[in-house]
Amino acid sequence: MMIKTELERLADQALQAIQNANALEDLEAVRVSYLGKKSGFTEIMKSLGQIDPSERPAVGQLANQLKAKIDQELTQKKNDLEAVALSAQLKAQALDVTLPSRRPHGGSLHPITTTVRRVNAILGRLGFEVTTGPEVETEFLNFEAVNIPKDHPARDMQDTFFMGPGIVLRSQTSPVQMRAMQSQPWPVRILCPGAVYRCDSDATHSPMFHQIEGLWVDRQVSMADLKGTLDFLAKELFGSQVKIRLRPSYFPFVEPGAEVDVSCMLCGGKNPTCPVCKGTGWLEILGAGIVHPRLFEIAGYNPKDVSGFAFGMGVERIAMLLHGIPDLRLMFHGDQRFLAQFTGVFRGSE
Ligand code: PHE
Repeated sequence: MMIKTELERLADQALQAIQNANALEDLEAVRVSYLGKKSGFTEIMKSLGQIDPSERPAVGQLANQLKAKIDQELTQKKNDLEAVALSAQLKAQALDVTLPSRRPHGGSLHPITTTVRRVNAILGRLGFEVTTGPEVETEFLNFEAVNIPKDHPARDMQDTFFMGPGIVLRSQTSPVQMRAMQSQPWPVRILCPGAVYRCDSDATHSPMFHQIEGLWVDRQVSMADLKGTLDFLAKELFGSQVKIRLRPSYFPFVEPGAEVDVSCMLCGGKNPTCPVCKGTGWLEILGAGIVHPRLFEIAGYNPKDVSGFAFGMGVERIAMLLHGIPDLRLMFHGDQRFLAQFTGVFRGSE
């Protein structure tokens, strides 16, 4: 009788402990202490042999019943605790798939690219086609072929990087004029954007910068055509209120030659302390002129048949004026804070 009471007492304790367990580890400890090898239950089962054989079946049956009950409660509690743990984990690691995703970082075109594309688009409407030439150029095409002989003082105007005997980093896009003329019969109406190199560096000069060369060769192309073309370009770029003016200047591959100014788009010449034009009212934007007949001879055209105009502009200079960029070097530092300001600027078609 004693044994049965003891078994029931142990079972009650076990069931109580199961009920009180709040974590899986606690429950496992309960299992070990009540049903494990060293538990009171196991001890009693081991001692069954010593009790009165007449009582043995009844005690054994009770022990089995109680053990089964404890097992069942353990399993039940284990399932409950696992469910609680899982829902706590799900709550902690909640992932809301209905949230909008992070915006992809939108890149932007560099102001030099947008400026080149803009000029190409504007002059494309006048029939100019984009062409390119190599940045590593022969000294001949960079200089001699555009009428700058070896000992010509004009070579000092452009401090050139030499790559090897007779090979230079082009110091201007003008050699592409010659490449274009040598590779096709006239008429020619091309634009050549690209990088050029000069040994020069300060707030308004970089050793690598960009130019856009324009060339129009046909029968009777005149200074009036040049002026009309550049006036159209300036107005499309900077606004219909701007004017251009031509000042006589010298470039070996044109005659006559001119430097071209645009009226100040900020103050229109009205502010004596204007930060953009410094009160002069004018900003130089390019060099231009009527193609020197010597270039037609080198290209294999008859100078009696054709005439033409050419111009060359600095892309950085135009970009600085268009966007109010104070220092040319900003354009080459790759600083996101600078570049991010150009998202959404012109992307390719006017
Ligand atoms: N190539 C000249 C320069 O780099 C610019 C220019 C081009 C001038 C075409 C006149 C005609 O300074």
